[in-house]
Amino acid sequence: MRNRADVRPAIERVGGAPVVIKLLEGTQGIGVILAPQVKVAEAIIETLHSTKQNVLIQKFIAESRGRDIRALVVGDRVVAAMRRVAEGDEFRSNVHRGGRVEPVTLDPVYEQTAVRSAQIMGLRVAGVDMLESDEGPLVMEVNSSPGLQGIEAATNLDVAGAIIDYIANQVAFPDIDIRQRLSVSTGYGVAELMVHSGAEQVGMKLGDLGLWDRDITVLTLHRGVSVIPNPRKHVVLEAEDRLLCFGKLEEMRSMIPEKRRRRPRVRRLPKEPLGE
Ligand SMILES: Nc1ncnc2c1ncn2[C@@H]1O[C@H](COP(=O)(O)OP(=O)(O)OP(=O)(O)O)[C@@H](O)[C@H]1O
Ligand SMILES: [Mg+2]
Repeated sequence: MRNRADVRPAIERVGGAPVVIKLLEGTQGIGVILAPQVKVAEAIIETLHSTKQNVLIQKFIAESRGRDIRALVVGDRVVAAMRRVAEGDEFRSNVHRGGRVEPVTLDPVYEQTAVRSAQIMGLRVAGVDMLESDEGPLVMEVNSSPGLQGIEAATNLDVAGAIIDYIANQVAFPDIDIRQRLSVSTGYGVAELMVHSGAEQVGMKLGDLGLWDRDITVLTLHRGVSVIPNPRKHVVLEAEDRLLCFGKLEEMRSMIPEKRRRRPRVRRLPKEPLGE
Protein backbone atom coordinates (compact mmCIF):
# COMPACT_ATOMS: atom_id res chain seq x y z
CA MET A 1 0.00 0.00 0.00
CA ARG A 2 1.57 3.23 -1.11
CA ASN A 3 -0.91 6.08 -1.21
CA ARG A 4 -2.84 7.92 1.43
CA ALA A 5 -6.07 7.35 -0.45
CA ASP A 6 -5.55 3.57 -0.25
CA VAL A 7 -5.44 3.52 3.55
CA ARG A 8 -9.12 3.60 4.46
CA PRO A 9 -10.22 1.09 1.78
CA ALA A 10 -7.42 -1.25 2.87
CA ILE A 11 -8.61 -1.08 6.49
CA GLU A 12 -12.21 -1.68 5.39
CA ARG A 13 -11.10 -4.65 3.32
CA VAL A 14 -9.78 -6.48 6.38
CA GLY A 15 -12.99 -5.75 8.27
CA GLY A 16 -12.18 -2.47 10.00
CA ALA A 17 -10.39 -1.77 13.29
CA PRO A 18 -8.66 -3.15 15.23
CA VAL A 19 -6.02 -3.86 12.59
CA VAL A 20 -2.45 -5.07 12.65
CA ILE A 21 0.06 -2.89 10.79
CA LYS A 22 3.38 -4.42 9.77
CA LEU A 23 6.51 -2.88 8.41
CA LEU A 24 7.58 -4.90 5.39
CA GLU A 25 11.13 -5.24 6.67
CA GLY A 26 10.30 -5.81 10.33
CA THR A 27 11.55 -8.76 12.33
CA GLN A 28 11.42 -10.15 15.87
CA GLY A 29 8.06 -8.47 16.33
CA ILE A 30 9.47 -4.97 15.90
CA GLY A 31 7.38 -3.03 13.43
CA VAL A 32 4.24 -5.04 14.20
CA ILE A 33 1.66 -2.65 15.64
CA LEU A 34 -1.88 -3.20 16.85
CA ALA A 35 -4.06 -0.20 16.03
CA PRO A 36 -7.31 -0.19 18.01
CA GLN A 37 -9.10 2.45 15.93
CA VAL A 38 -9.21 3.44 12.28
CA LYS A 39 -8.03 6.97 13.12
CA VAL A 40 -4.99 5.65 14.97
CA ALA A 41 -4.24 3.23 12.14
CA GLU A 42 -4.40 6.05 9.61
CA ALA A 43 -2.07 8.21 11.68
CA ILE A 44 0.45 5.41 12.08
CA ILE A 45 0.40 4.54 8.39
CA GLU A 46 0.74 8.18 7.35
CA THR A 47 3.70 8.59 9.68
CA LEU A 48 5.38 5.51 8.26
CA HIS A 49 4.68 6.64 4.71
CA SER A 50 6.26 9.99 5.44
CA THR A 51 9.49 8.12 6.19
CA LYS A 52 9.09 6.14 2.96
CA GLN A 53 8.22 2.85 4.66
CA ASN A 54 5.73 0.50 3.16
CA VAL A 55 3.31 -1.39 5.33
CA LEU A 56 1.06 -4.40 5.34
CA ILE A 57 -2.40 -4.26 6.91
CA GLN A 58 -3.95 -7.39 8.38
CA LYS A 59 -7.09 -8.30 10.22
CA PHE A 60 -6.33 -8.65 13.92
CA ILE A 61 -6.98 -12.23 14.94
CA ALA A 62 -8.04 -11.59 18.53
CA GLU A 63 -8.85 -15.21 19.35
CA SER A 64 -5.25 -16.18 18.65
CA ARG A 65 -4.54 -14.40 21.99
CA GLY A 66 -0.86 -13.70 21.54
CA ARG A 67 -0.05 -17.14 20.27
CA ASP A 68 1.21 -18.51 17.01
CA ILE A 69 2.35 -21.84 15.63
CA ARG A 70 5.65 -22.56 13.93
CA ALA A 71 5.59 -25.76 11.92
CA LEU A 72 8.80 -27.07 10.46
CA VAL A 73 8.15 -28.76 7.14
CA VAL A 74 10.64 -31.17 5.61
CA GLY A 75 9.57 -32.77 2.35
CA ASP A 76 5.89 -33.52 2.71
CA ARG A 77 5.83 -33.81 6.49
CA VAL A 78 5.81 -31.58 9.52
CA VAL A 79 8.79 -32.84 11.53
CA ALA A 80 8.41 -30.51 14.50
CA ALA A 81 6.01 -27.88 15.73
CA MET A 82 5.89 -25.44 18.55
CA ARG A 83 3.54 -22.83 19.88
CA ARG A 84 4.89 -19.45 20.86
CA VAL A 85 2.97 -17.74 23.63
CA ALA A 86 3.27 -14.01 24.29
CA GLU A 87 4.09 -12.59 27.67
CA GLY A 88 1.31 -10.94 29.67
CA ASP A 89 -1.05 -8.82 27.56
CA GLU A 90 1.40 -8.59 24.65
CA PHE A 91 -0.17 -9.81 21.39
CA ARG A 92 3.16 -10.58 19.71
CA SER A 93 4.48 -14.01 20.58
CA ASN A 94 8.08 -13.44 19.46
CA VAL A 95 10.70 -14.84 21.80
CA HIS A 96 12.51 -11.50 21.49
CA ARG A 97 9.39 -9.86 22.89
CA GLY A 98 9.39 -12.13 25.91
CA GLY A 99 7.31 -14.95 24.45
CA ARG A 100 7.84 -18.53 25.56
CA VAL A 101 7.70 -21.69 23.49
CA GLU A 102 6.03 -25.02 24.02
CA PRO A 103 5.91 -28.18 21.88
CA VAL A 104 2.56 -28.95 20.23
CA THR A 105 1.03 -31.89 18.44
CA LEU A 106 -0.64 -30.35 15.45
CA ASP A 107 -4.14 -31.04 14.30
CA PRO A 108 -4.02 -32.67 10.82
CA VAL A 109 -5.60 -29.52 9.30
CA TYR A 110 -2.66 -27.47 10.58
CA GLU A 111 -0.16 -30.03 9.28
CA GLN A 112 -1.77 -30.10 5.85
CA THR A 113 -1.88 -26.32 5.70
CA ALA A 114 1.81 -26.08 6.57
CA VAL A 115 2.86 -28.72 4.04
CA ARG A 116 0.69 -27.22 1.34
CA SER A 117 2.08 -23.73 1.99
CA ALA A 118 5.64 -25.00 1.63
CA GLN A 119 4.71 -26.81 -1.58
CA ILE A 120 3.06 -23.72 -3.05
CA MET A 121 6.24 -21.75 -2.32
CA GLY A 122 8.30 -24.53 -3.91
CA LEU A 123 10.19 -25.22 -0.67
CA ARG A 124 11.31 -28.62 0.58
CA VAL A 125 12.36 -27.18 3.93
CA ALA A 126 10.28 -24.38 5.42
CA GLY A 127 9.17 -22.81 8.66
CA VAL A 128 5.47 -22.03 8.39
CA ASP A 129 3.96 -19.56 10.85
CA MET A 130 0.23 -19.83 11.46
CA LEU A 131 -2.31 -18.15 13.69
CA GLU A 132 -4.99 -20.26 15.34
CA SER A 133 -8.21 -18.55 14.31
CA ASP A 134 -11.81 -19.60 14.89
CA GLU A 135 -11.89 -20.56 11.20
CA GLY A 136 -8.77 -22.73 11.50
CA PRO A 137 -5.19 -22.07 10.49
CA LEU A 138 -4.21 -18.71 8.98
CA VAL A 139 -0.79 -18.66 7.39
CA MET A 140 1.19 -15.56 8.34
CA GLU A 141 4.48 -16.38 6.77
CA VAL A 142 6.54 -19.09 5.09
CA ASN A 143 10.25 -18.92 5.90
CA SER A 144 12.69 -20.45 3.45
CA SER A 145 15.61 -20.61 5.89
CA PRO A 146 14.08 -21.26 9.30
CA GLY A 147 16.22 -21.28 12.41
CA LEU A 148 16.52 -24.72 14.00
CA GLN A 149 17.92 -24.03 17.43
CA GLY A 150 14.73 -22.67 19.00
CA ILE A 151 12.43 -25.38 17.72
CA GLU A 152 14.89 -28.17 18.56
CA ALA A 153 15.16 -26.88 22.12
CA ALA A 154 11.39 -26.51 22.46
CA THR A 155 10.49 -29.91 21.05
CA ASN A 156 13.59 -31.93 21.90
CA LEU A 157 13.52 -33.21 18.33
CA ASP A 158 16.43 -33.56 15.96
CA VAL A 159 15.19 -31.32 13.17
CA ALA A 160 18.59 -30.93 11.54
CA GLY A 161 18.85 -34.73 11.47
CA ALA A 162 15.47 -34.95 9.75
CA ILE A 163 16.65 -32.50 7.10
CA ILE A 164 19.85 -34.48 6.54
CA ASP A 165 17.88 -37.75 6.24
CA TYR A 166 15.55 -36.12 3.77
CA ILE A 167 18.42 -34.87 1.61
CA ALA A 168 20.12 -38.28 1.79
CA ASN A 169 16.92 -39.90 0.53
CA GLN A 170 16.70 -37.40 -2.29
CA VAL A 171 20.12 -38.52 -3.46
CA ALA A 172 18.81 -42.08 -3.88
CA PHE A 173 15.79 -40.71 -5.76
CA PRO A 174 16.92 -37.61 -7.57
CA ASP A 175 14.34 -35.38 -9.17
CA ILE A 176 13.67 -36.40 -12.71
CA ASP A 177 11.76 -34.46 -15.25
CA ILE A 178 9.02 -37.05 -15.67
CA ARG A 179 7.34 -35.12 -18.42
CA GLN A 180 10.48 -35.26 -20.50
CA ARG A 181 11.34 -38.86 -19.60
CA LEU A 182 7.87 -40.14 -20.31
CA SER A 183 7.65 -38.46 -23.68
CA VAL A 184 10.12 -40.92 -25.15
CA SER A 185 8.14 -43.11 -27.46
CA THR A 186 6.46 -41.20 -30.22
CA GLY A 187 3.08 -39.86 -29.31
CA TYR A 188 3.23 -40.78 -25.62
CA GLY A 189 3.33 -38.26 -22.82
CA VAL A 190 1.79 -37.08 -19.57
CA ALA A 191 -1.31 -34.95 -19.29
CA GLU A 192 -3.73 -33.90 -16.60
CA LEU A 193 -7.37 -34.73 -17.13
CA MET A 194 -9.87 -32.69 -15.14
CA VAL A 195 -13.18 -34.06 -13.92
CA HIS A 196 -15.35 -30.96 -14.21
CA SER A 197 -18.37 -30.61 -11.97
CA GLY A 198 -21.34 -31.75 -14.00
CA ALA A 199 -19.22 -34.09 -16.10
CA GLU A 200 -20.62 -37.58 -16.63
CA GLN A 201 -17.52 -39.06 -14.97
CA VAL A 202 -18.53 -37.70 -11.54
CA GLY A 203 -19.66 -40.66 -9.41
CA MET A 204 -18.15 -43.22 -11.78
CA LYS A 205 -15.44 -45.66 -10.80
CA LEU A 206 -12.03 -44.90 -12.22
CA GLY A 207 -11.93 -48.40 -13.73
CA ASP A 208 -15.15 -47.76 -15.65
CA LEU A 209 -13.81 -44.84 -17.66
CA GLY A 210 -12.17 -47.14 -20.18
CA LEU A 211 -8.81 -45.47 -19.71
CA TRP A 212 -6.75 -48.65 -19.60
CA ASP A 213 -8.48 -49.93 -22.78
CA ARG A 214 -7.21 -46.78 -24.43
CA ASP A 215 -3.68 -47.44 -23.17
CA ILE A 216 -3.87 -44.64 -20.59
CA THR A 217 -2.39 -45.20 -17.11
CA VAL A 218 -3.43 -42.98 -14.20
CA LEU A 219 -0.36 -42.00 -12.17
CA THR A 220 -1.98 -39.86 -9.49
CA LEU A 221 -5.37 -38.53 -8.54
CA HIS A 222 -5.35 -35.03 -7.05
CA ARG A 223 -8.37 -34.21 -4.93
CA GLY A 224 -8.30 -30.80 -3.30
CA VAL A 225 -5.06 -30.76 -1.33
CA SER A 226 -4.67 -34.53 -1.14
CA VAL A 227 -3.02 -36.85 -3.60
CA ILE A 228 -3.82 -40.52 -4.21
CA PRO A 229 -0.81 -42.17 -5.85
CA ASN A 230 -1.48 -45.11 -8.20
CA PRO A 231 -5.25 -44.81 -7.69
CA ARG A 232 -7.10 -48.13 -7.84
CA LYS A 233 -9.89 -48.83 -10.26
CA HIS A 234 -12.57 -48.86 -7.54
CA VAL A 235 -11.90 -45.21 -6.59
CA VAL A 236 -15.09 -43.22 -7.19
CA LEU A 237 -14.51 -39.92 -8.96
CA GLU A 238 -15.58 -36.61 -7.51
CA ALA A 239 -16.10 -33.25 -9.16
CA GLU A 240 -12.85 -31.28 -9.62
CA ASP A 241 -10.66 -34.41 -9.35
CA ARG A 242 -7.50 -34.14 -11.43
CA LEU A 243 -6.01 -37.22 -13.01
CA LEU A 244 -2.36 -37.17 -13.97
CA CYS A 245 -2.15 -39.67 -16.81
CA PHE A 246 0.42 -41.29 -19.03
CA GLY A 247 -0.59 -42.43 -22.45
CA LYS A 248 -1.02 -41.59 -26.09
CA LEU A 249 -1.36 -37.82 -26.29
CA GLU A 250 -3.87 -38.16 -29.11
CA GLU A 251 -6.13 -40.37 -26.98
CA MET A 252 -5.90 -38.01 -24.03
CA ARG A 253 -6.51 -34.93 -26.13
CA SER A 254 -9.81 -36.43 -27.25
CA MET A 255 -10.85 -36.67 -23.59
CA ILE A 256 -10.22 -33.02 -22.82
CA PRO A 257 -13.40 -31.06 -23.53
CA GLU A 258 -12.69 -28.52 -26.22
CA LYS A 259 -12.30 -24.98 -25.11
CA ARG A 260 -14.76 -22.55 -26.59
CA ARG A 261 -13.19 -21.04 -29.60
CA ARG A 262 -12.02 -17.51 -29.10
CA ARG A 263 -14.13 -15.09 -31.03
CA PRO A 264 -12.08 -12.56 -32.94
CA ARG A 265 -12.42 -9.21 -31.24
CA VAL A 266 -10.82 -7.09 -33.90
CA ARG A 267 -12.67 -5.31 -36.63
CA ARG A 268 -12.64 -6.80 -40.06
CA LEU A 269 -9.89 -5.41 -42.21
CA PRO A 270 -10.98 -3.18 -45.05
CA LYS A 271 -10.79 -4.76 -48.49
CA GLU A 272 -8.32 -2.20 -49.74
CA PRO A 273 -5.22 -1.32 -47.77
CA LEU A 274 -5.43 2.11 -46.13
CA GLY A 275 -3.40 4.48 -48.19
CA GLU A 276 -2.72 8.13 -48.10
N1 LIG B 1 -2.90 -10.47 12.18
C1 LIG B 1 -2.51 -10.81 13.42
N2 LIG B 1 -3.42 -11.05 14.39
C2 LIG B 1 -3.01 -11.39 15.65
N3 LIG B 1 -1.73 -11.52 16.01
C3 LIG B 1 -0.77 -11.30 15.08
C4 LIG B 1 -1.12 -10.94 13.74
N4 LIG B 1 0.02 -10.79 13.03
C5 LIG B 1 1.03 -11.03 13.89
N5 LIG B 1 0.57 -11.34 15.12
C6 LIG B 1 1.42 -11.66 16.29
O1 LIG B 1 2.58 -10.85 16.22
C7 LIG B 1 3.76 -11.65 16.09
C8 LIG B 1 4.76 -11.00 15.15
O2 LIG B 1 4.24 -10.91 13.82
P1 LIG B 1 5.06 -11.37 12.54
O3 LIG B 1 5.55 -12.75 12.71
O4 LIG B 1 4.24 -11.07 11.37
O5 LIG B 1 6.30 -10.35 12.54
P2 LIG B 1 7.82 -10.61 12.85
O6 LIG B 1 7.94 -11.77 13.77
O7 LIG B 1 8.37 -9.30 13.28
O8 LIG B 1 8.38 -10.95 11.44
P3 LIG B 1 9.14 -12.28 11.00
O9 LIG B 1 8.30 -13.42 11.47
O10 LIG B 1 9.22 -12.13 9.52
O11 LIG B 1 10.46 -12.21 11.68
C9 LIG B 1 3.25 -13.00 15.59
O12 LIG B 1 4.13 -14.01 16.00
C10 LIG B 1 1.88 -13.10 16.25
O13 LIG B 1 1.98 -13.58 17.59
MG1 LIG C 1 7.29 -13.81 13.24
